[in-house]
Amino acid sequence: MADTLRDDAFVEFERVQKSYDGEVLVVKDLNLTMPKGEFLTMLGPSGSGKTTCLMMLAGFETATHGDIRLDGVSINNIPPHKRGIGMVFQNYALFPHMTIAENLAFPLEVRKIGKSEREEKVRRALDMVEMGDFGGRRPAQLSGGQQQRVALARALVFEPELVLMDEPLGALDKQLREKMQFEITDLAHNLGITTVYVTHDQTEALTMSDRVAVFDDGRIQQLAPPDQLYEQPQNSFVAQFIGENNTLEGVVSEISDTACVVRLDSGEEIDAIPVNVSKVGERTKVSIRPERVEMDASRLQPGAHTLKAEVLEFIYMGDIFRTRLRVAGQNEFIIKTRNAPDQVRLQPGQQIEIGWLAEDCRALDA
Ligand SMILES: Nc1ncnc2c1ncn2[C@@H]1O[C@H](COP(=O)(O)OP(=O)(O)OP(=O)(O)O)[C@@H](O)[C@H]1O
Ligand SMILES: [Mg+2]
Repeated sequence: MADTLRDDAFVEFERVQKSYDGEVLVVKDLNLTMPKGEFLTMLGPSGSGKTTCLMMLAGFETATHGDIRLDGVSINNIPPHKRGIGMVFQNYALFPHMTIAENLAFPLEVRKIGKSEREEKVRRALDMVEMGDFGGRRPAQLSGGQQQRVALARALVFEPELVLMDEPLGALDKQLREKMQFEITDLAHNLGITTVYVTHDQTEALTMSDRVAVFDDGRIQQLAPPDQLYEQPQNSFVAQFIGENNTLEGVVSEISDTACVVRLDSGEEIDAIPVNVSKVGERTKVSIRPERVEMDASRLQPGAHTLKAEVLEFIYMGDIFRTRLRVAGQNEFIIKTRNAPDQVRLQPGQQIEIGWLAEDCRALDA
């Protein structure tokens, strides 16, 4: 409740639920507060409710329960033409019978902006996405990536305070996609636009966003800046969904406020920090990132637990080495090491010992 009363709140979802059929809730209890100028990404599996949230925020769908506010005013009470929301959807078609310039002028005409100002804004918007020479063409005469850039320019041309983007880069190849990721965040920050962005691509989410909301099953599982999300996942869904992650299962055998020991199903013990466990005997999934696994016992805390591991596969990836191990009876344990001059290249069949700092290993919900 306190979170939704922040006075710098620009976008607010308060206890929002949505059902399309009156039975199944596809959005279950959404609370979200965004300050002006924030770039927030919704990330989550297919069907988790991301587009539904955007449609409600745009005012195209109404919430079944709860309230959505824009700058303190309930979205239901703001007429569509006064909402000041720019939208880019993956399949949001440009008007095929209009030229690119006419496509961009359209949202300005709707807002009764005079001809000379309109032309000036269209020119600036096209220059912004490096499409200044294409104003006279029709959408069918552009490549997919160029069309997406025009769609972006059209969403920004009337200088909206809020922009909603639903997988706007889905159709682009990797290189153009990375260029556009940079252009979009740059534009949003320079123009002070508040952005809600939806993607399936977690690298995109991590690199572009001020904060990321991880969706699953109609709920936000965690809402945090990228580094926090990656380094401090709050539950095993987030740990497994964001980035590469090793999971080991077991039972808490010792616990204090800041540390715990987990006895794995294989019988071995490891060190972790208790995140979602509180007592001895509780089942847990522990999460450890591949780059935080240590092979050099001298770098571990005195008395730290270690595990025996057998090297199954060594994969050379250029900048890093990715090595697959058999650990605690499991064949999919991954470690990543930097390709430094003195780095060992492990060989399949080799027996090693691995460990980690307790703070890099999180005991989460089972
Ligand atoms: N107009 C609609 N009528 C009925 N059910 C719908 C409607 N739109 C979406 N749904 C359902 O609501 C749930 C959430 O859909 P939504 O489109 O919000 O998911 P999403 O997170 O955007 O998924 P994706 O990543 O695949 O785009 C899904 O189960 C979907 O089938
Ligand atoms: Mg969607």
